[in-house]
Amino acid sequence: MCGIVGVTGVGDALPYLLQGLQKLEYRGYDSAGVFLTDASGKNELIKEKGRVSKLAEKAEAYGFNGTAGIAHTRWATHGNVTVENAHPQKSANNRFFLVHNGVIENYKELKDTYLSNVDFVSETDTEVAVQLVNHFAEEGMATVDAFRKMISMLEGNSAYGFLLVDENDPETLYVAKKKSPLLIGVSDHGYAVTSDAAAMIDLTKDFVELRDGDVAIVKPDSLTIFDENGDDIVREPFTLEIDPEDTDKGAYPYYMLKEVDEQAVVARNIAGHYYDEDGNLQGIGCAITDKMKEADRLYIVAAGTSYHAGLVGKRYFEQWAKIPTEVHISSEFAYDQPMLSEKPFFIFLSQSGETADSREVLDNVKKQGYPALTLANVMNSTLTREADFALPLLAGPEIAVASTKAYTAQVIVQAILASSLGNPGFDLKAELAKVAVEIQAITDDKEKFKAIAEDALADQHSAFYIGRGLDAAVALEAALKLKEISYIQTEGFAAGELKHGTISLIEDKTPVFALLTQKKTAGLLRGEVAQVAARGAKTIVFASKGVAKEGDAFVLPEVNELLMPLLAVIPTQLVAYYATLARGLDVDRPRNLAKSVTVQ
Ligand code: M6R
Repeated sequence: MCGIVGVTGVGDALPYLLQGLQKLEYRGYDSAGVFLTDASGKNELIKEKGRVSKLAEKAEAYGFNGTAGIAHTRWATHGNVTVENAHPQKSANNRFFLVHNGVIENYKELKDTYLSNVDFVSETDTEVAVQLVNHFAEEGMATVDAFRKMISMLEGNSAYGFLLVDENDPETLYVAKKKSPLLIGVSDHGYAVTSDAAAMIDLTKDFVELRDGDVAIVKPDSLTIFDENGDDIVREPFTLEIDPEDTDKGAYPYYMLKEVDEQAVVARNIAGHYYDEDGNLQGIGCAITDKMKEADRLYIVAAGTSYHAGLVGKRYFEQWAKIPTEVHISSEFAYDQPMLSEKPFFIFLSQSGETADSREVLDNVKKQGYPALTLANVMNSTLTREADFALPLLAGPEIAVASTKAYTAQVIVQAILASSLGNPGFDLKAELAKVAVEIQAITDDKEKFKAIAEDALADQHSAFYIGRGLDAAVALEAALKLKEISYIQTEGFAAGELKHGTISLIEDKTPVFALLTQKKTAGLLRGEVAQVAARGAKTIVFASKGVAKEGDAFVLPEVNELLMPLLAVIPTQLVAYYATLARGLDVDRPRNLAKSVTVQ
């Protein structure tokens, strides 16, 4: 989704801005732009459709680096993908320049009411915002007041991260945020503003978080923050625990492959964090477990891959902790809240911690006074900050749009959390150590999945993943992974449902992948594999050792059956990766998608 970077006081602005934009690329975008200025008021606005590298080429050719600037990657919401619609947007008199993440719901009304005599060059809500700032400035307001006035007029579900430059005071950045993340990077020489800390780690690791309703004025040598009441406040910076190398691909051709390979290490890191040397649980805290034990029902709320991880987690909470658990898609729950139990407890699962649909639910839940815990990979994110409790997923930066290691981390952390509430009946720590070894063994066997993907999927337009029980949950995740990056229309299915309609889609050579790791239903699933094979499907079975048969495409090593989703998912990630490569597509940046989905 859209990304923001800005700098002032750091010396040459352009290199930091371009590097920042490049680090934001993984989030997904379709155009980019940069505005550069210096103390004398010299300036340059450059915008391009497509890749940041194209923008960089053009910007560098001007030979003007600026001493302050703002930049943006845009993921179109209002208006098509055009240079005119790219940010920064500017006021008609070239005084104000603005980048914006989020959506202004009442922008048409504002345009009609206040700006009917202004010529617009774009179709964006952002241009309305910047023209409105100019409108109030022309009425005689100081810039910060005009900025605040514009913000006060945004209605409904409007969300924003704003970064504004006034050419009458060119090295000052005006910043504001609501529902859309923004951080201020503090360095020995100057400041950065960014929607994603990872974009600015080459400048600093120290960041101040802005909260909803904050307005900040950032000058080359000072930072002033006003809270939602307009009070001048001091917020201490936090230090980002991230190694710049973690955000590099190293020798890998794509982030996705690196992240798939990292899963064994992630499993070990999580165990290292949540268990002490004697195998005792640590780092969860009684405040969380006491509240969860008081609950009569758990509600797991998430989107996409995180939702699929929740479907697996449900089993641990019900089977080990003995607490009934429901799993909900956040975009549905937000506007159609189901009937709740008397004492609900909410668990938000999120890689980014910024997913707008999940944030909407958390907002609603808090208003109703229910306790909430967020499990997120990005700590200091909105979902971790705004929930009562937060636990880290510890997967390390996940850059590829297709989520892999965050899924694994979500399943493991849920298992550990559930085991802190009730007995799994086996040594979870020891079993997770085994899981890490076996994940490694599967990822070492990559070539097998490359061959399978090339053989089964290179020319296909549709595919299926089927399973029963926990394997059905993994089938949903496997299908999402394959379709989102390879564009092969893939359905994940509870195998028993096939005969109730979907089996009519099976044609000659339709690839049907079966995940088979649950003993109780293995026989039934074999039957379903036979049914689709009899109708011409090309069946590819990934089965665990205890239930594998000759002819299966891959035999998964065995760990405790309830942890098998952690192993069964790995081949499906690799199949998705290699199928996408075989089709000549960009694995890390699938079309139309964004890493962090910050719009509803
Ligand atoms: O950051 P989140 O975990 O909240 O994101 C949720 C989904 O947008 C995300 O899992 C998405 O489905 C992935 N691209 C799937 O690979």
